[in-house]
Amino acid sequence: MEILTPEHIGPLSKLIPRSRPALVLAPMQDVTDLAFMRVIARRGAPDWFVTEYFRVHPFSKPEKHILRSIDENETGKPIFAQMIGNDAAELIRTARELCHHPIAGIDLNLGCPAPIVCRKDAGGGLLRDPQRVDRLLGELRENIPASFTVKTRVGHQSPEEFVGLLDIFRRHGIDGLTIHGRTVAERYQTPVHPDCVKLAVETMPCPVIANGNIVDPETAAGYHQATAAAGLMIGRGAIRNPWLFRQCNERFSGKMIPQATHRDLLEYIVELSGEIAREAPRFEARGHVQRMKKTLAYISHGLDGNFEYEIRRVRTPGEFEETCARYLDHDTPLPARPPADSKLFCGFSELLAKPVAQA
Ligand SMILES: Cc1cc2nc3c(=O)[nH]c(=O)nc-3n(C[C@H](O)[C@H](O)[C@H](O)COP(=O)(O)O)c2cc1C
Repeated sequence: MEILTPEHIGPLSKLIPRSRPALVLAPMQDVTDLAFMRVIARRGAPDWFVTEYFRVHPFSKPEKHILRSIDENETGKPIFAQMIGNDAAELIRTARELCHHPIAGIDLNLGCPAPIVCRKDAGGGLLRDPQRVDRLLGELRENIPASFTVKTRVGHQSPEEFVGLLDIFRRHGIDGLTIHGRTVAERYQTPVHPDCVKLAVETMPCPVIANGNIVDPETAAGYHQATAAAGLMIGRGAIRNPWLFRQCNERFSGKMIPQATHRDLLEYIVELSGEIAREAPRFEARGHVQRMKKTLAYISHGLDGNFEYEIRRVRTPGEFEETCARYLDHDTPLPARPPADSKLFCGFSELLAKPVAQA
């Protein structure tokens, strides 16, 4: 494993490779922990990671299990610490605490659509009040002694809000902007809006990272072609296909992309399950199976037969392992993409690169 060295840590633009867009693992609550990062990195690491969000409020302390994903990150790749909250003083206090850990920078979440978060005017809920975002970013930029990036959606109700939001982001000298190309209202149920990401690329002075719906190297290439973004962030697609960062890297270098098999997938699931169990402070079989079932929702989706159906019904680690082995222990190549009409990876087909017109 590569060791994290000081040159990894600095403004985001230094982390972007010259020859291809940067590839970034998206922050995902209860998914992108130490165990997951480790298992992904063994199959081709992203250029950097972003933690699940630290919840920030007047009585908050940075969650210990998230801090571990920073302190014990052995992948050699930098990690940004993400915060969610709306109180400038508390966010600054937390950012300063996080700066005592080996982070590449601080990221602010302006995109979470969960009703419980939005009701408290945090995450995507803040996009309802652009003036408040303006004040908050001003205070954070001035007081955060590190690279400071923002992860946003393209509006709360409509992508037409995005032009005004970009004006605000531009004013505060942020070091990077990641855009999940949907509005908060669109949650995960629509195609993304690459035109908004393109506008940000053309008008922001900092690197822009495009996010949402990348499920394979072709959707990554299509999103990049449509936006010229400096980087691509991948979340659910990397749970489903942990080789995706390596495959995208190879796609952008014009190399052959090896196809993983069902047996490779089985090996990944067994390894992930083992790492998660090993990292649990107290192993508890029911909780472990629940966590694996949540992860498997993204992996089993669209695979042959009744795998998806059966895995939702397992109750014990033994049933879980037996069901995975029964469906996956063979050498058939995996489908490159989820089903085109998928409700889980909604609208990814719109990202596929348009064929270049013949001269
Ligand atoms: C289970 C889950 C948890 C998530 N947690 C976070 C989070 O903590 N912070 C954040 O900024 N986004 C979070 N997201 C959103 C993702 O980072 C990403 O923006 C979104 O999934 C779209 O990208 P994708 O299509 O590549 O998955 C989460 C998404 C999922 C599915």
